[in-house]
Amino acid sequence: MEKIAICPGSFDPVTLGHIDIIRRASKMFDKVIVAVLVNPSKQPSFSIQERIDFLNEATKGIDNLEIVSFDGLLASYAKEKSAVAVVKGLRAVSDFEYEFQMALTNKKLNPELETIFLTTSSQHMYLSSSMVKQVASFGGDISDFVPACLYEKIYNRLKGVN
Ligand code: PNS
Repeated sequence: MEKIAICPGSFDPVTLGHIDIIRRASKMFDKVIVAVLVNPSKQPSFSIQERIDFLNEATKGIDNLEIVSFDGLLASYAKEKSAVAVVKGLRAVSDFEYEFQMALTNKKLNPELETIFLTTSSQHMYLSSSMVKQVASFGGDISDFVPACLYEKIYNRLKGVN
């Protein structure tokens, strides 16, 4: 049976840290669904369609991916897609409480679903979408943070927005 995993997130915008996790997950599973989901505690800067387009562009060449959006519970979506695992990157201790809470909630809602945490590569330890947004909004260089093919699009949209 095909083993399907989901890499969920806001991806607002996608960072090199996300791409690293997606690439590594794609080697572990037959198919990876990258799901752009709604995080009700975050105010997005990019539309869902923009985030999907960015992900499609930045993951060209990874064949076993499907990029989607879903406006509902991750646990239900995983069941609908017969996914066996959620794969997330864990950066630092500060991520742990929030991620652990989500993993336990998802397990309660869908007991068949496992959450797997991949240790973020050391060069991406500090990276987050919110940091990218803040640095770009003040005109800082984000070229080490986002995929090169998206740099201009992301930077031009965020520059001066604060
Ligand atoms: O990149 P983020 O913002 O840390 O990702 C969080 C996300 C979008 C994966 C989470 O908010 C989510 O799963 N949203 C979908 C709604 C849901 O299932 N909420 C309950 C999760 S415990």
